Amino acid sequence: MSDSYSLMIHGGSGCLEDLKYEAGEDEFRHSIHVILEKGRQRLARGDRALDVVEYCVTLLENDPLYNAGRGSVLNAKGQVEMDAALMNGADLRAGAVACISQVKNPIALARHVLAHGQNVLLMGEGALEFAKLCELELCHEDYFITQARIEQLKAAKAAGRITLDHERISPSEKLGTVGAVARDRHGDLAAATSTGGLVNNHWGRVGDTPIIGAGVFADNESCAVSATGYGEEFLRTVLAKTIAMFVQWRGMDVETAAKAGIEYLVNRVQGEGGVIVIDGAGHCASAQSTTGLICGWIEHGSEAHCTLG
Ligand code: GLY
Repeated sequence: MSDSYSLMIHGGSGCLEDLKYEAGEDEFRHSIHVILEKGRQRLARGDRALDVVEYCVTLLENDPLYNAGRGSVLNAKGQVEMDAALMNGADLRAGAVACISQVKNPIALARHVLAHGQNVLLMGEGALEFAKLCELELCHEDYFITQARIEQLKAAKAAGRITLDHERISPSEKLGTVGAVARDRHGDLAAATSTGGLVNNHWGRVGDTPIIGAGVFADNESCAVSATGYGEEFLRTVLAKTIAMFVQWRGMDVETAAKAGIEYLVNRVQGEGGVIVIDGAGHCASAQSTTGLICGWIEHGSEAHCTLG
């Protein structure tokens, strides 16, 4: 087992320029740093990448700053419907859930789907029943729905639009889809992503987050990727897998591959969003087409960094 490990997390993408002038910036930085350091403790003691990405995404889901778990955005009916997925780079095992409600931590349910091994993706009522079988914590909708989200939906409806996590509607709405990628001391990669979707999206809509290869992907032979942005565009471009193919088949380093992936997203479908990527050697990279991406990383066990723009 080597001494080296790397970890990246993201808290969503969108228009963040106002953060620079608001107290919100400190809140996001603090949250990202705390979660990175908690993740570091686990990677440093030799925990597996899959466990650490699940753990970091659980912490992000529990923080109402972000559009995942608690604080998820509301669909057009004012309901919370969440998606989550994770993937293990060593053996390509994956677990995902779509269109779920009540489950406190969708990523934990995705992990149970992975561990069960029979299916990759469960949705709706069936996923909820499975969560009950797994004895996962369920919460009343009051736990998920914040006043800020109710106001955000009202504003989106008034403007007749469907919006990204951090798109500027008001200063209180800079909340984002979450994700984590890690390379552990055993040399294994893993990725996890979780979201409440897009503000005012059609009920029953499923984005890229729970679709392996679109919003999440991990393969020890290439890299681990977690995405955030307008899901439909990441679905059409199968973006997480496309970036992995750039690494594996075109021999790109992760920085070049992340940039090339976002260029492809923009050129082909005018896509908006961002990605975080770690390769098998623990190199970290991110890229985005939005003005902001809340992102933190620890590369090869070094000090933690955070960017919001
Ligand atoms: N990327 C999150 C979504 O579109 O649902």
